[in-house]
Amino acid sequence: MDHKEFLKSLVCPLTGGTLTIAEDGKTLTSEDGVVYDVNENGIVNMLYPKELLPGDAREQYLYDQAFLRYDKGVSWVFETLNHSDEAATREFMIDLMELKPGMKALEVGAGTGKDSALILNRVRPGGTAVLSDLSPNMLKLAQDKLSADDVNVHYFLGNGSYLPFADDTFDAVFHFGGINTFSERKRAFDELTRVVKPGGKVVVGDESVAPWLRNTPTYATLLKANPLFRAEVPIEDVPANVEDLKLHYIFGNAFYVLEYRVTAKAPEVDIDLPIPGKDFVDNWRLRAEKAVD
Ligand SMILES: C[S@@+](CC[C@H](N)C(=O)[O-])C[C@H]1O[C@@H](n2cnc3c(N)ncnc32)[C@H](O)[C@@H]1O
Repeated sequence: MDHKEFLKSLVCPLTGGTLTIAEDGKTLTSEDGVVYDVNENGIVNMLYPKELLPGDAREQYLYDQAFLRYDKGVSWVFETLNHSDEAATREFMIDLMELKPGMKALEVGAGTGKDSALILNRVRPGGTAVLSDLSPNMLKLAQDKLSADDVNVHYFLGNGSYLPFADDTFDAVFHFGGINTFSERKRAFDELTRVVKPGGKVVVGDESVAPWLRNTPTYATLLKANPLFRAEVPIEDVPANVEDLKLHYIFGNAFYVLEYRVTAKAPEVDIDLPIPGKDFVDNWRLRAEKAVD
């Protein structure tokens, strides 16, 4: 997929409606007249809403300021967490995407491209990686660092809660490190899942100290020092149409990773299946009566 085809694959991040590409390829315009610009580095700005919610605007500002310090800073954090092996842990997370050469992957919140490099290696040769972030400076650094040999790489500025793709576009989607602070986190889980084909994987991780560690001396100090680690695993935000969900703890059990497979439809309970005998009827009625709220 070349750059023009990538632009053609984009849809309105709110409605999913078509976008019209200008002849010079410099803008995309939605049916209701919203214009999305392509900058001089070929990065298309698909940010939605145009005026970000305050929490997202703050994160964008912070990462735009910190982009040069980010790689060193984040590696130091993982070193403090039980002297974790950052490289091996990132490989572990990307393995969960189950990518193969030729596949099409999306990364949301790609930052400076630490995991993106591994994603590119997995879909080589011939695959496609679409990399996005909220922060122009972080994403530009990723673009400068990554090699596009034998692989199609496309970049866009985007809010993970409004993805500019049709349903079922990707074989797998990855996000690590930012979702706890997304202003519309539930919407982001819905979007990450919507754009993956049934059978494909979603892998998402962020800070959350494992419950059994929260009162131990060094982790209690960590939770005091950095409130981001107090976040709960946002398992209630996972959409209904998933299976094989697994929860992993990584980086000294201070970060979670949720992996799941997308299904074509949500599971259902067959409430019309005949009950196999009077014992069952009595047992369930008794339990239901006892549990009246
Ligand atoms: C801690 S960094 C993680 C970067 C990279 N994934 C890594 O593991 O090194 C979090 C990233 O999420 C991005 N981000 C924050 N809010 C976002 C949002 N609503 N949509 C997309 N990206 C977002 C930030 O700009 C930042 O680059």
